[in-house]
Amino acid sequence: MCKDETPELPSMSTALPTPTYVLSRPRVVPILDVVDEASNTKSFSFRDKLGATAMPGQFGMIWAPGTDEVPMSLLPRGKDDIVTITVKERGNGTGALLRKKKGDLIGVRGPYGRGFTYAGVRNALMIGGGTGAIPLLALTRILTPSRVRCSFILGAHTQRELLFQNEIERLCKETGGSYIVTTDDGSAGTQALATHEAAKVLRAGSFDRVYTCGPEVMMRKVIDLAGEARIAAEAGLERIFKCGSGICGSCCIGSYIVCKDGPVFSGEILRELPEFGRSTRDASGRPVIIKSS
Ligand SMILES: Cc1cc2nc3c(=O)[nH]c(=O)nc-3n(C[C@H](O)[C@H](O)[C@H](O)COP(=O)(O)OP(=O)(O)OC[C@H]3O[C@@H](n4cnc5c(N)ncnc54)[C@H](O)[C@@H]3O)c2cc1C
Ligand code: FES
Repeated sequence: MCKDETPELPSMSTALPTPTYVLSRPRVVPILDVVDEASNTKSFSFRDKLGATAMPGQFGMIWAPGTDEVPMSLLPRGKDDIVTITVKERGNGTGALLRKKKGDLIGVRGPYGRGFTYAGVRNALMIGGGTGAIPLLALTRILTPSRVRCSFILGAHTQRELLFQNEIERLCKETGGSYIVTTDDGSAGTQALATHEAAKVLRAGSFDRVYTCGPEVMMRKVIDLAGEARIAAEAGLERIFKCGSGICGSCCIGSYIVCKDGPVFSGEILRELPEFGRSTRDASGRPVIIKSS
């Protein structure tokens, strides 16, 4: 390749997919490294050949022995089959993971699901809220070497919950994209909702793809804004996952099984789903209204 040539975007599906029965065999791996990232949030690295093939937006089922198994975005480091997960404490499963130390064992299944698509994208806007920044960072890492212009709106309730600020800012600058931080309490960046800034940025820019991940109310608004601007959009959904592999049905939205048909869905599909951003299901499958914050 000559010096000024733009590298091709990494292909999204060059090899035959690994059969589900192989992905679903739990691998027990030692934790190699633990890093404090933000309030009640830590990153854990481990070595896992299959996990290292995860595409941005795909997830693994991570088992904290004796407690629970929870879905987590997988971030391959790009060499030596090292994978990182970043875990924010929410309940029992994530709490047990946060107590793990270097050398402790965890289980991994996957990677599962459909990730973000990016063929032909040249000017992308990412809008990430809270832990939604995690798969969007994985996507930004993949896009930047191919000189896709990446702009990022990173939102959180408060400064202590902002994730990966330095790396995201650096990657956006490298590609000539913009980087905006919003917090609900004004403790960092602009005191505003990420969607408020997204409306402004979408009016000013000429993006060809919008990606979002975070609270569902936020994603609904982003998908609607992208629709009004006639820009293709994708969102990474969170539902309660039990099997993580399309068997139990606990993660349904409309007629879709989020762990298998998603977790990333296109704006066209999501706009047709009345539940999206409005209601979800609790652990027993009962519909519950999503609160706006
Ligand atoms: C595809 C996917 C990728 C994810 N990636 C990450 C990640 O990279 N980092 C991270 O910190 N978290 C991530 N999550 C969220 C994480 O899986 C949940 O926080 C976790 O399963 C909660 O389990 P728990 O045992 O700690 O909490 P529980 O004790 O099971 O629940 C605590 C509370 O959280 C609610 N809850 C539990 N799971 C979910 C869910 N999936 N969606 C919405 N509400 C839920 C419960 O209803 C309950 O109110 C991801 C979720 C999905 C579906
Ligand atoms: S979590 Fe079981 S079908 Fe999706």
